[in-house]
Amino acid sequence: MNQFKRLIDKLETTSYLTKEEWVMLIENRNVEISEYLFEKARKWQHKYYDNKIYTRGLIEFSNYCKNDCYYCGIRRSNRSAERYRLNKEQMMECCEIGYKLGFRTFVLQGGEDGWFSQEILEDIISTIKKKYPDCAITLSIGERSYKSYLGLFQAGADRYLLRHETAEEAHYQKLHPAELSLENRKRCLFDLKKIGYQTGTGFMVGSPGQTAASLAEDMIFISELEPHMVGIGPFVPHHETPFAKKVGGTVELTLFMIGLLRVMMPKLLLPATTALGTIDPLGREKGIQAGANVVMPNLSPTSVRKKYELYDNKICTGEESAECRTCLSQRMKNIGYELVTDRGDYCEFKEEKKCIR
Ligand code: SAM
Ligand code: FES
Repeated sequence: MNQFKRLIDKLETTSYLTKEEWVMLIENRNVEISEYLFEKARKWQHKYYDNKIYTRGLIEFSNYCKNDCYYCGIRRSNRSAERYRLNKEQMMECCEIGYKLGFRTFVLQGGEDGWFSQEILEDIISTIKKKYPDCAITLSIGERSYKSYLGLFQAGADRYLLRHETAEEAHYQKLHPAELSLENRKRCLFDLKKIGYQTGTGFMVGSPGQTAASLAEDMIFISELEPHMVGIGPFVPHHETPFAKKVGGTVELTLFMIGLLRVMMPKLLLPATTALGTIDPLGREKGIQAGANVVMPNLSPTSVRKKYELYDNKICTGEESAECRTCLSQRMKNIGYELVTDRGDYCEFKEEKKCIR
């Protein structure tokens, strides 16, 4: 057996590789090694989650953002972005539509928009929770203080998504202006876990300046953090950002990283992201076949969809929520998976403990 397949075996049995081993494996991947990896990834995916794919209804409630990340289409310096924010009633309407369609998780995502004060956010969260006590609320609203995260948790939020973006210090600085730091990003993630959120991190694949060594750092950081979810998708350039002319990430490398994550941490909730579906019409299906087990269709009103443009040519900006739900359900069926109506908690948070490694 070749040495790279042996590294995959080592990852499977110990959940650990040294930085050098990560780099070697990532740099030397090929079709045969990838297939070997994906087979193992699917084995673990089926062991813990069968052929079930969890779905989360994404509500992109504001594209105002005080940050200026170089890769992001809604960064504050993008003067041509048409800004919007949904009010509480509009957000409740999205939940109502979503609930009827079978969603039991709502993901509230937005830029870092100061208009949504702590008080306003807590009110929105507790209202949703009161109306839909059987649903999970996920937040994805960036970096905040421990106190703020705690307040939102106490108001009823269950989960939080905050990608670390890259775990390599020098790379982090290439992607962000000086006022943002990897140290604070990591602090937020550890705070979220400490408070009790089901916590998600993640990174873009192929972001400018990323090397196999950066990806190795990402994998090492993830194994230290032990998150419940990891969202990864390809970097896709946006025409109104400093990275407009940079090359985007590939489907191939994104799938390889998904496979590695599933084998390293078999119980992870791993989305097949919209960005993956954007650069390949079958990207989300391929993501599932590489080990992902979550999809996050959009529940935002179609009138604002195009405005939440993180990158160029984002898919699903014209479809109604119901269309996306049906489309994804069919797509999953086509490859032998089933979209389920379930909160889709990380398996250790579930009542029946079917997840024993
Ligand atoms: N403000 C919150 C935050 O920073 O976590 C949530 C919104 S932010 C736009 C959500 C994610 O979009 C980021 O974590 C980033 O990884 C991803 N993203 C932004 N620009 C992107 C691009 N050009 N290509 C792919 N993903 C991108
Ligand atoms: Fe939106 Fe297919 S998921 S159209």
